[in-house]
Amino acid sequence: MNTDVKTQTSTDTFNAAKARLDFPALHQEVHGRPLVYLDNAATTHKPASMIEAVNRFYQRDNSNVHRGVHYLSQKATGQYERARQTVRRFINAADENEIIFVRGATEGVNLIAQTFGRHFVHAGDEILISEMEHHSNIVPWQILCEQTGATLKVIPFMDSGEIDLNTYQSMLNPRVKLVGIVHLSNTLGTINPVAEMVKMAHAQEIPVLIDGAQSVAHLPVDVQAIDADFFVFSGHKVFGPTGIGVVYGKMDRLDQLQPYQGGGDMIHSVTFEKTIYADVPHKFEAGTPNIAGAIGLGAALEYLTSWSLEEIIRYENELLRYATQALKKIEGLTIIGNAQNKAGVISFALEDIHPHDIGTILDMEGVAVRTGHHCTQPIMDHYQIPATTRVSLAFYNNQADIDAMMQALQKAIEVFR
Ligand code: ALA
Repeated sequence: MNTDVKTQTSTDTFNAAKARLDFPALHQEVHGRPLVYLDNAATTHKPASMIEAVNRFYQRDNSNVHRGVHYLSQKATGQYERARQTVRRFINAADENEIIFVRGATEGVNLIAQTFGRHFVHAGDEILISEMEHHSNIVPWQILCEQTGATLKVIPFMDSGEIDLNTYQSMLNPRVKLVGIVHLSNTLGTINPVAEMVKMAHAQEIPVLIDGAQSVAHLPVDVQAIDADFFVFSGHKVFGPTGIGVVYGKMDRLDQLQPYQGGGDMIHSVTFEKTIYADVPHKFEAGTPNIAGAIGLGAALEYLTSWSLEEIIRYENELLRYATQALKKIEGLTIIGNAQNKAGVISFALEDIHPHDIGTILDMEGVAVRTGHHCTQPIMDHYQIPATTRVSLAFYNNQADIDAMMQALQKAIEVFR
C-alpha cells in the first residue's frame, strides 16, 4: 500500500473504544440523536486512515496505472500493485497474481460464472449452491444455467440456519461442475464449515467458490487453509471503499479461463487478426481499474490487521451474546438463524409488527438497522416471512449501542402494540 501513509506495523491489543475514534462517521447525530450504527452487514464505516489514503491519491498521486513511464503513473502503479500484495497477505493467497480487482463480490461471482462457467459448464451439468445464498450467488448461476442448459441445485438448510452436511454429501455427484457457498450468511449469521465442505467437494474433484462478502471483516480468512478454488469479497464490507472487490482464484484455475471483459490493459498485443491476452491477473482487469478503490482497500486491510483479529472476534462474539440475550427477553420476538457457529448478525421477527415499522422508529431514535429480505428472498421463503429486522455488528460497536437499540425497540413496540 501507499508507503506515505503511516501504518501500524505491530498488532495492538484490541480496544473497541479507541477503535471507534478512528471512524469519523460514527461520531454524528441523526434526527437529533447520537448515531447508533448497526447495519454493518450492508456496509461498514471507514477508518480515517483509509479515507486519507484515498484522499492523498486524488490530491497528489492521481495517474493511470500500467501505462505511463512518467513519475506519477509509476507511483500510482506501485500503490495499486502494493494493494494487491496487501490483499494477498490478508487472505493468505499463495501468489499476489491470484488476486483480481473487481467492483465487488457480485462482480466476482459473475466473473467466475461467465469465465469458468461458460467454459466448463454444459447442458446436463449441475451447479450446486445453498438455500442461504445472497442473490449475488444465485442469479449469476441462474443466468449461466439459462445460457448453457445446466441445472441449478440447492442444498437446503435446517430451521436452525445450518446446512446438513449429509444432505450436501448426497447432492455431490459427477454432474456437479461447481459448488458455491456463502462463508458467513448476511441474514442468518451462520458460519458455514467451508473447509469441510470444500474437502467433500474436492473428493469428487468439484471446484468450490466461497462468497466471503461478510466473512472477511469478522473471521480469519485463509484461502489456502480453506482450499477454496475461488473466493470473492467486497471492499466496502471490510472498512474499504465501495466499488472495489476481489476475486481470488487458484493460479492453475485462473490460467485456464478466458477473459471476462475485453479492453485496454488486459492484452499483450492486438491486431485485427489476433489478440494475445495479458497474463493473470491483468487478463481479468480490462480498462482503467478502480485505482483509488484498490489503494483504499489496501489501507483498510492494513488498518484492520493493526488490531489482533483474534481479539476482535472474541469481542464481537461477546457483543453478539449480549444482544441476543437482550432480544430474547422480548415477548413475541423470534430470532431467525440460531446456528451453533454464528457471527454478529441477528435477524428477528416480531409476530405483530412489520420490520419496516420497526426500522422507521429505530431510525427516528438514531439507530440504523436493515429491514427487508436482505437480498436473500429464499431465506424468507424458508421461514415463510416477508422480511426481518437485522442487527449487524462490527468491532466499533459496544454494549451502549445495543442498549440504545433495545430502548428504541421498546418504543416501537409501545407505538405498534
Ligand atoms: N448484502 C448486503 C446486506 O446484507 C447489502 O445488507
